[in-house]
Amino acid sequence: RRDLLMLGIETSCDDTAAAVVRGDGEILSQVVSSQADLLARYGGVAPKMAEEAHALVIDQVVQKALDDAKLSESDLSAVAVTIGPGLSLCLRVGVHKARQVAKAFGLPIVGVHHMEAHALVSRLVNKDLDFPFLALLISGGHNLLVLARGLGQYIQLGTTIDDAIGEAYDKSARWLGLDIRKGGGPALEELALEGDPNAVKFKVPMRQHKDCNFSYAGLKTQVRLAIESKNLCTEDVPISSALEEDRQSRANIAASFQRVAVLHLEERCQRAVEWALKMEPSIKYFVVSGGVASNKYVRTRLNQVAENNGLQLVSPPPSLCTDNGVMIAWTGIEHFVVGRFEDPPADDEPDDMQ
Ligand code: KG4
Ligand code: ZN
Repeated sequence: RRDLLMLGIETSCDDTAAAVVRGDGEILSQVVSSQADLLARYGGVAPKMAEEAHALVIDQVVQKALDDAKLSESDLSAVAVTIGPGLSLCLRVGVHKARQVAKAFGLPIVGVHHMEAHALVSRLVNKDLDFPFLALLISGGHNLLVLARGLGQYIQLGTTIDDAIGEAYDKSARWLGLDIRKGGGPALEELALEGDPNAVKFKVPMRQHKDCNFSYAGLKTQVRLAIESKNLCTEDVPISSALEEDRQSRANIAASFQRVAVLHLEERCQRAVEWALKMEPSIKYFVVSGGVASNKYVRTRLNQVAENNGLQLVSPPPSLCTDNGVMIAWTGIEHFVVGRFEDPPADDEPDDMQ
């Protein structure tokens, strides 16, 4: 299995990423080209613009992943690529590249589900992590609680009924006038350290619903109202030039938002652990992954939930929590070794998705 060499390509959202991983999990290279700058300037992902940005760098990103691994395409065993969920215009850029490489070098292709990859990369990080396990996947577009019973066998315990937590972090950061060029989540996490988490009384979502679903749209609106009620013209006045008093008010809102946003996670996860243990009493691990899982406060609080229930928290390092090529390559390996892959495209097949 060590001889297996998998190239992973990821273009589902705003990062263009590629990596080469060995069958035993050794990471030979990892390259990410971020569009965060574009996002900060234009206020969100515009699919056409994101597609162009991916197309501009995809060849370089893949080439660098191969160079850093000191390999050429002909050394590879197969190519794994994200096929969804995500923006279809963006996904196409990655799939096109993967098919091009696969066709030219006669390599099999593994189509990878982005959220499965967020979950399974935890098995690269922790080699003892066997199925079944419980996973919370938190990113800009998804909030999922999943009972993973085996490869490809996932039971969804909860999902968001509106926004994902990452979206709430990103919008709140923007409204608070933060510098979001390195992402809204990290900027808000940093400001929250200066604030009082009990200063603003935000309502914890969905307490009356005794299930494992999530909702972040209401909390987002509460943040907006808190900003307006304090007359903080935050989008026009960046935090760097805010008065000291305004800065403190913003930090208090950030800290209070974070406390309630994460408390909502804690409450749903506690219930999900109980549900999961009823279905699979042998569960030992609680996986927390996806971009928001790189947040220190999130990790600390969810570690407590795991410990309270006798489970071990597994949360990949931040570079493997946010979108990356390693998780795609690794998930490709997991599928490849059990025979789940497609043959190389024939010479006369187009490189686009059919
Ligand atoms: O998994 P990911 O990289 O992309 C998607 O699949 O969406 O997640 C991106 C999300 C963004 O909303 C970003 O603000 C959030 O993860 N994020 C964070 C942190 N780092 C990234 N949220 C809170 N705290 C962080 N430190
Ligand atoms: Zn993601």
